[in-house]
Amino acid sequence: MFKVIIKDTNEEVSRAAFNVMKEVLDSKPNPVLGLATGSSPVGLYKEMIKDHEETGRSYKDIITFNLDEYVGIPRDHEQSYYTFMHENLFNYIDCPEENIHVPEGNTDDHEKACVDYENALKQHVVDIQVLGIGSDGHIAFNEPGCPFDSETHLMELTEQTRSDNARFFDGDINQVPTLSITQGLGSIMRAKKILLIATGANKADAVWGMLKGEKTTDCPASILQDHADVTVILDRAAASRIA
Ligand code: GLP
Repeated sequence: MFKVIIKDTNEEVSRAAFNVMKEVLDSKPNPVLGLATGSSPVGLYKEMIKDHEETGRSYKDIITFNLDEYVGIPRDHEQSYYTFMHENLFNYIDCPEENIHVPEGNTDDHEKACVDYENALKQHVVDIQVLGIGSDGHIAFNEPGCPFDSETHLMELTEQTRSDNARFFDGDINQVPTLSITQGLGSIMRAKKILLIATGANKADAVWGMLKGEKTTDCPASILQDHADVTVILDRAAASRIA
């Protein structure tokens, strides 16, 4: 079931997202957080850092699982999702490194990396899963056509996703990896609660497909229609086709 919140500014979107996150953080000392990369959750992470600094909230007992990672670039690459998460959140809170999980995209045995990650994830129940959405309706890196019951797997990135993400690679699509390791749609659906953030006009079609379209693997995010607890926070541009 979707709860949709529409805000005017990015700051308001981030604060509304933090309010949802805060309920989970307040509910127990050791929640399991499913985290996402991309520009959409950055404001939420800033609010979490501010909360940590201003209220002294400790993250030392939380466990985190990220959604995805590029294949073929090292963890210390400036655009790896491992680096992204450290630069945008982990370096500024007191979550111990051993509690942080990001899929390993730089290995000789990708199949084993997928199985290991899914097994580690299955040891826990994710209390809240943060999501962005791709302009083609992908969540994590589950591109159109991906089965709804998929678990952690390798995914070839579409031209559209590589072109969207080229802005992080000097605007050069050729530098964007072609392959990723990603939690599957089935993995994501196991989370107790989903918090999806989308801003900007280029997300309007995907947001419509997720909320109002047919449930189809052509729009991977439409699987969320089957989830019991999804909060979607949008700005007016992303909400332009539904409001
Ligand atoms: C990437 C990530 C997704 C993210 C999407 C949207 O492809 N794998 O998890 O949701 O981009 O990114 P942004 O929030 O920057 O628009």
